[in-house]
Amino acid sequence: MAVNLEKIVSFAKRRGFIFPSSEIYGGLSASYDFGPLGMELKNNVKKAWLKSMVQNRNDVVGLDSAILMPRIVWEASGHLQSFHDPLVECKSCHHRFRADHLLEAKQAEPGYIKEEPVSIKDINCPDCEGELSAPKNFNLLMKTELGAVEGEKDEAYLRGETCQGIYLNYLNIKESMRQKIPFGIAQVGKAFRNEITTKNFIFRMREFEQMEQQYFINPNGCYNLSFDGRKIGGKPEDWMNYWREQRMNWYLNLGIKQENLRWRQHASDERAHYAKDAWDIEYNTPFGGWKEMAGVHNRGDWDLSRHGEYSKVDMTYTDQESGEKFVPWIIETSDGVDRATLMFLLDAYTEVEARSGEEDAKHNVEVVLKLHKNLAPIKIAILPLSKKEPLQKLSKEIQSRLWSKWMTQYDETGSIGKRYRRQDEIGTPYCLTVDFDSLEDKKVTVRDRDTMEQERISIDGLENYFQEKLNC
Ligand code: GAP
Repeated sequence: MAVNLEKIVSFAKRRGFIFPSSEIYGGLSASYDFGPLGMELKNNVKKAWLKSMVQNRNDVVGLDSAILMPRIVWEASGHLQSFHDPLVECKSCHHRFRADHLLEAKQAEPGYIKEEPVSIKDINCPDCEGELSAPKNFNLLMKTELGAVEGEKDEAYLRGETCQGIYLNYLNIKESMRQKIPFGIAQVGKAFRNEITTKNFIFRMREFEQMEQQYFINPNGCYNLSFDGRKIGGKPEDWMNYWREQRMNWYLNLGIKQENLRWRQHASDERAHYAKDAWDIEYNTPFGGWKEMAGVHNRGDWDLSRHGEYSKVDMTYTDQESGEKFVPWIIETSDGVDRATLMFLLDAYTEVEARSGEEDAKHNVEVVLKLHKNLAPIKIAILPLSKKEPLQKLSKEIQSRLWSKWMTQYDETGSIGKRYRRQDEIGTPYCLTVDFDSLEDKKVTVRDRDTMEQERISIDGLENYFQEKLNC
């Protein structure tokens, strides 16, 4: 892992991907705003996920449920009782930390002997060396109040995970969409957690986005057919294996390097209260090595049974053919949009030796953001070789033909080498140069970001050319 996080943070700000939120007022910790290119990248991540999870399947449908939910949802889900982190406070400076993070950092120190048990009592405040309090549990849910008039206020929570909206709509969707088990419900949306420590850029935030899919199965076994006619599924552990493979392949197909990804199974004492089995996809980050990026969880019948119990609505499923009755089990796939976006940026950021530009404009190092074409914020840059009117006119005409299908960017400032560099740096797969010959032969030069090969393509054939090349 060559790039460090500081480089990515400053690159992301300089090139319009990610800005600290409320920056002119000094910023709000762990809140970030996605700029023009970051918003495109993040939307492309979400689009790619929805395409693979909903559009390209017959057995998963989409949902967009509310962020605000009443207290009882979180009582039923178990989050009010169990969704907490161990918090310690410095007795001198009163800064707060996660006890498990401090222990992890201590164990990662050079010279630390693995066999030595480490206790929070052995650790001092990382900010002022003061004494730390004993750990106490701190609930991560964010509470708010509904209603404007004093006395009529009602307690509500911003959802701590998007999947709860899926469980509450399980019956609505099963009935309105005539779904038969096994089937899934997928949604992308914001989640909120009052994290104690927030660091590492957009890795751990208080407001973030999740892409979650809940697959409802018969605990005694059930099958489905995949798009290519293969029989898939079986027992819960077979569905776990199936969904683990799907999720890992999604990251690999979008270009994440295999050596930077691995699986880790949760030990029984670290599993969330709802999980019978849990696996994380971890990425080898430059900020402390392997870190959780996504998860696949067997949640058993925890969620539907608890919501059935608290709402007094029957969640039993009856198999129409066999008459078998059961509360469905859930296999969950849970991915963070922001963490995935960070992972794609880290993995794609590449420094290469000077390769574009005239001798005097060459840099020692150039950045190429080798994003998968489907994720690249801008697909095609249109670069007129000169600012002379006929070239500007033709370039803008070409751009207006392409922009109904793809994100394009028009750039006429600086040398052509500089403009190529600017586009390489933000990951644009194709640069299209309009020159004086274009006025005569009605052709333009298309340059490939990765190979730097150039092809002369007729203007009338550009839409077909990019359709084939971009396939998105
Ligand atoms: N519904 C299950 C669930 O929420 P989780 O492991 O708590 O499981 C799932 O979260 C994913 O959500 C994580 O793998 C991560 O990608 C993302 N995530 C969780 N907390 C986050 C935070 N504070 N900031 C950014 N992403 C977060």
